[in-house]
Amino acid sequence: MIDLRSDTVTRPTLAMKKAMFEAQVGDDVFGDDPSVNRLEAVAAERMGKEAALFVPSGTMANQIAIAVHTRPGDEVILEAGAHPFNYEAGGAAVISGVQLSPVPGKNGILEVAAVDAAIRAPNVHHAPGTLLCVEDTHNRGGGTVHPIERLDDLAALAHKRGLATHLDGARLWNAVVASHVAADRRARGYDTVSFCLSKGLGCPVGSLLCGPAPLIDRGRRVRKLLGGGMRQVGYLAAAGLYALDHHIERLEEDHRRARELSMGLMLAQIDVKLPQTNLVYLDVADAYAVRAALHPSGILVHAVSTTRLRLVTHLDIDDAAIEVVIRAFDKLPNSIKGPPPPPAAPPPPAASARPR
Ligand SMILES: Cc1ncc(COP(=O)(O)O)c(C=O)c1O
Repeated sequence: MIDLRSDTVTRPTLAMKKAMFEAQVGDDVFGDDPSVNRLEAVAAERMGKEAALFVPSGTMANQIAIAVHTRPGDEVILEAGAHPFNYEAGGAAVISGVQLSPVPGKNGILEVAAVDAAIRAPNVHHAPGTLLCVEDTHNRGGGTVHPIERLDDLAALAHKRGLATHLDGARLWNAVVASHVAADRRARGYDTVSFCLSKGLGCPVGSLLCGPAPLIDRGRRVRKLLGGGMRQVGYLAAAGLYALDHHIERLEEDHRRARELSMGLMLAQIDVKLPQTNLVYLDVADAYAVRAALHPSGILVHAVSTTRLRLVTHLDIDDAAIEVVIRAFDKLPNSIKGPPPPPAAPPPPAASARPR
């Protein structure tokens, strides 16, 4: 199988499994797991923050961040394609009782003026805006990397207007490698930052939420409330420590393969942009038909919508796989891989609504 659906589909390498097998463990809910304690210390240090919390998923990291930065009835501002707005099962409303204010960006990158305009003035009618979430790289935006100035300016504006800041860095390491800007520098303006071990870094499970010690302490309580306190979880933390030492620089290979894939697909007459990182989005006439046509050749792709596909490079995709995929796309009929149909014309206004 050539599985391009996500960078979450990787399996631990032999060396990672060896590190997991040899891990020192204890009961982490008692704070006794030496591998988790070390991973949290390393994560905090790499992000330039005081403390960190190991959690099962990127979703839980974001939800804990939202919970510790807000009170019920608050408003959280985020980009319209952001993960907590689209893919976290309405968690912010259920867990924190907040409303989300989605602001459209360009390829997932927010304009400072648009965020400024979205922060409501204090008024008895308004839900007070108390948190800005920024996503780097931006998944739905196409794996896009924020220019460092934009990250800084968004955080500075939020703080000036009295909002806290959270950076959803599920794929922050991809942004670090693509931009050559260190993780602690990218996260500098943000009160909290999360990153995932189970995406490009090749671990089976795990994310970290990093920030000031008092917030992380509160986050530890929210993790317990959500049932995310884990016991001898050092086996997973050991995978994370291994990945932070061995799987970051190689992300550049995933980015190169994503570029080569998109260039090959352009030659196969596909509507695709050159990616900045490891996420390749394509617009086609019939995404479900393309997905079905590739399946018998052992190629798995993700249909984001009826006309949009996502192909993701990762640790288990090599150069040979990229060539196989480009050849398979080349052979597909234009009727399914061609450009998406133009949007349907709006229906004529009802007779009574026609201007006289
Ligand atoms: C930007 C972003 N944030 C958060 C998450 C959530 O991560 P998880 O699947 O570990 O819950 C994802 C998952 O793809 C993501 O892309």
